[in-house]
Amino acid sequence: MIRSTTSTLLFLVTATFCIPSFSASKGNPVKGAELFKQCVACHNVGEGAADGVGPQLNHVFGRLAGTIEDYNYSEALLAKAAEDELLWHEETIYTFLAGPQFFIKGTTMGFAGFRREKEIRDLMSYLIQFSPAYEPGSETEVSTDAMASATLPPPPSDQAEEEVPEFSSEYLALGDAIKGGGELWGKQCRHCHGNSAYPGKAPKLTPATYTPDFVFDRLTNGFKKMPAWKTVFSLEERKSIVAYVLSDEFSP
Ligand code: HEC
Ligand code: HEC
Repeated sequence: MIRSTTSTLLFLVTATFCIPSFSASKGNPVKGAELFKQCVACHNVGEGAADGVGPQLNHVFGRLAGTIEDYNYSEALLAKAAEDELLWHEETIYTFLAGPQFFIKGTTMGFAGFRREKEIRDLMSYLIQFSPAYEPGSETEVSTDAMASATLPPPPSDQAEEEVPEFSSEYLALGDAIKGGGELWGKQCRHCHGNSAYPGKAPKLTPATYTPDFVFDRLTNGFKKMPAWKTVFSLEERKSIVAYVLSDEFSP
């Protein structure tokens, strides 16, 4: 008895979320790209996207829930998928993102849900670009063939796994790189690492003991109190800072 009351309640809650008749094209994809940053810790999109903590989200519009092969979905999601033959489209994704735990009780997706309808619209208008074989509003399943033959956009730049660049001795000796890197050092690093920074704020660098890969890694990914600069500086800029730190011109 109590059980069925709870599920009726849940149904009502999810049903209210469903009411806005939905078109992802009504959102703002630029804002959606910004909002998608709340998803990228767990989800990848774009050509070559791999599963992470969550399944990759290419072609998610028009895909049956829980069907990425080899991804380890929760029992909760699989049960819901089987019971309702849950297909992801504007309305179901909307409902899910409004409150993942309301829609799929027990899902392992660690995201509380958006509060505002507009946010979900914006997010969806961005995400739908990675479902190029889906006809917006159609609510029909997209065949795997159609998915396979559609061209996906490239991954968002801050998501792309960056390869550690090669640091040739030619590059490390390149005057322009050293000069550019030195300017960036002066603007962004010296106030913590430099001689005039207050002692203890950051260690004095000892470039003679570093490999280029080490400096690049610390700079890109940060470490403890050292901030990460990956989204601040372009790859070229970070490379040039490495060249500067390891050059004879380096002066903290
Ligand atoms: C902390 C990690 C995390 C975050 C943040 C997150 N998700 Fe998820 N997501 C998951 C996990 C884990 C699953 C699988 C859930 C399950 O099996 O119950 C999932 C599943 C999904 C699914 C169902 C996919 C399928 O193949 O059936 C969609 C759609 C989705 N997430 C969209 C999003 C969007 C959009 C965002 C950002 C607003 C987001 N998620 C944020 C972890 C996350
Ligand atoms: C807010 C202060 C701060 C700024 C700004 C900063 N760093 Fe750091 N950096 C640190 C701290 C603190 C550490 C020590 C982290 C640890 O190992 O605990 C560190 C560590 C490092 C290391 C590793 C040192 C070692 O010997 O282990 C390198 C290399 C480095 N920083 C380079 C840079 C560069 C290049 C910049 C400019 C883009 C920069 N840092 C900007 C605080 C800062």
